[in-house]
Amino acid sequence: MDSHSSAHSPLRIGVLLSGRGSNFLAIAESIRTGKLKGVEIAVVISNVAEAEGIRKAREMGIPCQVFVSKGRSRQEHDAEMIACLWSHGVDLVCLAGYMRLLSPVFVTSFPNRVLNIHPSLLPAFPGLEAQQQAFEYGVKTAGCTVHFVDDRLDHGVIVLQRAIPVLDGDDAHSLAVRILAEEHVAYSEAIGLVASGEYEILGRRFVKKAGNRK
Ligand code: GRF
Repeated sequence: MDSHSSAHSPLRIGVLLSGRGSNFLAIAESIRTGKLKGVEIAVVISNVAEAEGIRKAREMGIPCQVFVSKGRSRQEHDAEMIACLWSHGVDLVCLAGYMRLLSPVFVTSFPNRVLNIHPSLLPAFPGLEAQQQAFEYGVKTAGCTVHFVDDRLDHGVIVLQRAIPVLDGDDAHSLAVRILAEEHVAYSEAIGLVASGEYEILGRRFVKKAGNRK
């Protein structure tokens, strides 16, 4: 993953989603408008047949695949997804509201090549309903995190974060809406950084290579 440069063939991403797919759409839009260069969406996979996101991907003519996860073992289900991602030549997997834990086999099949977006400033508020957790805790700054996926929940190396103030007039819903707007910017930016290959991972730190630091 460290040598993939946008000067060469495009980085092929595979998007995994379970729901409305607004992050997927934001990524697709960044690619379409040229904001996110050197990247193409190779396949969109959903574990939920009726997910809004997969319907939109289909409409856009992007290759799509549904692997229903309900009632299936994680290992069996993940093996199908891995085979599909490989068959589409996927270099980088992007979880975009994929609501199922990945098996260790999946994570080791794509070492530091699976990104996730989480609607909090990790390590605060991992897990479900992070925006609500942050709101109820009373934090003054909230935000989102794009990170590599490792074998622990919402835990891997952080690629980037975007922060926003929590306003006195906010409720959990308005906060979540404003965090989502940041997510839509953050994910494309993070994919661009990873696609550039111009980074190093030092322990838990994702840093731009010396010549590329601002
Ligand atoms: C986002 O809030 C994301 O941070 C979380 O799941 C939600 C997915 O939303 N992981 P969408 O399906 O991309 O609209």
